[in-house]
Amino acid sequence: MQLIITSPPYCIGQEYEKGIDLKYFQEIISEVLPDLVRVLKPGGSMAWQVGYQAKKNELFPLDYTVYSIMLQFPQLKLRNRIIWTFGHGHHLKRRFSGRHEIILWFTKGDDYTFNLDSVRVPQKYPGKKHYKGAKKGQFSGNPGGKNPSDVWEIPNVKAAHIEKTAHPCQFPVGLADRLIRALSATNDWVLDPFMGSGSTGVAALINQRRFVGIETHKPYVDIAKCRIADAMHGKARYRAVDLPVRLPKPSESVSKAPDHFARAQRVKAVEEEGRRSCNRFKASVTGGTND
Ligand SMILES: C[S@@+](CC[C@H](N)C(=O)[O-])C[C@H]1O[C@@H](n2cnc3c(N)ncnc32)[C@H](O)[C@@H]1O
Repeated sequence: MQLIITSPPYCIGQEYEKGIDLKYFQEIISEVLPDLVRVLKPGGSMAWQVGYQAKKNELFPLDYTVYSIMLQFPQLKLRNRIIWTFGHGHHLKRRFSGRHEIILWFTKGDDYTFNLDSVRVPQKYPGKKHYKGAKKGQFSGNPGGKNPSDVWEIPNVKAAHIEKTAHPCQFPVGLADRLIRALSATNDWVLDPFMGSGSTGVAALINQRRFVGIETHKPYVDIAKCRIADAMHGKARYRAVDLPVRLPKPSESVSKAPDHFARAQRVKAVEEEGRRSCNRFKASVTGGTND
């Protein structure tokens, strides 16, 4: 295999999971990892997409666990810890709402494939010029675009997403697509040992790679087979990774604050002014500044 991309069960109580603790998560990864390392070609890559476990509002970052297990294989070298950020999720009350997960990218050895030119994104400032030195005044950016960096904003697969299937935890095809283009070549083999609905397979097929997927739940295998067959016939339904995230126009109804939002803002402003004048009064009594 040239490339392994996967998102294992997080052990957070999904229908396909047997246990809900970190120990079970460690066991799943430790069980498959020796075989994954064995089948990975020297110079090949392995990418693990994971999030968090949360218990009684305490967070456990699963990439820490994955990383600590990987350390048992010194030939695997961490190249990037990619932040995958997205706009939708639970609105939390007792901590900041979670809007990212992690991708750990490892290579087997130091002589590895990285096709930066195939994943460049448009320059933010294409008109930027060198401001000193021999090239002063010349355009400084790469016309093919810039490195996409290690922070990727890709919408997550929620109800209205074009890729949504009955699988509860799909990652977007675009996430695997960028990894596949950067870390493998046409006709290379790509493996997903926790295939789910086959998102990695779709990304492999649309990029003319060969794919192997492993999945224990038959209904998900059936979904994956359909999606992969569609991709083979040029009918894959997916959101391109480079499509900018859509923001609603000011004229759309969702952009307009309803009346009760304005009232709530006014109440907040009055409360804030009350707090300030109270502080001013205290300061005048004690002789200090308290604002
Ligand atoms: C987080 S989901 C992967 C979702 C996938 N990336 C997608 O986009 O659809 C993890 C998957 O691993 C499967 N799974 C659980 N234990 C497994 C095992 N021992 N071997 C293979 N797959 C397993 C689950 O059924 C689940 O579909």
